[in-house]
Amino acid sequence: MMSVEQIRKNVISCTKCELCKTRKNAVPGKGNSNADVMFVGEAPGRSEDERGEPFVGAAGKILSKFLGRAGISRDNVYITNVVKCRPPDNRVPKTEEREACREYLAEELAAIKPKIVCVLGNTAFGSVLGGSEITKYRGKTARKDGQLYFITVHPAATIYNSGLVEVLDGDIAKMFSLIRELKSGGNIKADIEYS
Ligand code: URA
Ligand code: SF4
Repeated sequence: MMSVEQIRKNVISCTKCELCKTRKNAVPGKGNSNADVMFVGEAPGRSEDERGEPFVGAAGKILSKFLGRAGISRDNVYITNVVKCRPPDNRVPKTEEREACREYLAEELAAIKPKIVCVLGNTAFGSVLGGSEITKYRGKTARKDGQLYFITVHPAATIYNSGLVEVLDGDIAKMFSLIRELKSGGNIKADIEYS
């Protein structure tokens, strides 16, 4: 199995899709390699591309704020994206880019073995679980290949839809309460089972 450090190195020098031509910096996942939860967003934006770190711009500030309200520090979680390089003008990553980048997400999962993967927004929901209609499925758990997932909205969505602030707050609180339940030996019946 590959270490998080090795995955990082491979991402930083990756040229497997055309996003490598327009990026300033590739953005590998970052955080605690023993994390209980791995957050998966869509793709790096401008600030992330500048700094080579995930969720450090506006969306990142919002994510940190929601984590803080749940009493969780960013140092205790692992944060990554479906694609590790910024799409030009922040367009949605193309299917071939997601496919090219998929192995890194799989390697991150294998290295970190989180208790739960938190899927942030529709792009991650589509790429990771093949889902759509995030507003219908958010707040739910899913199980796929033995891995437990929690589905919620993207933090950036709360900028344009203030009604989602309460929704994301509630979802994050619910997810961490599920993690506490798991850690005390409880069993979670997933809302959605993928074969
Ligand atoms: N939005 C994302 O989905 N990921 C980031 O890293 C930053 C913003
Ligand atoms: Fe490689 Fe992923 Fe960046 Fe494409 S987006 S160049 S596959 S790291």
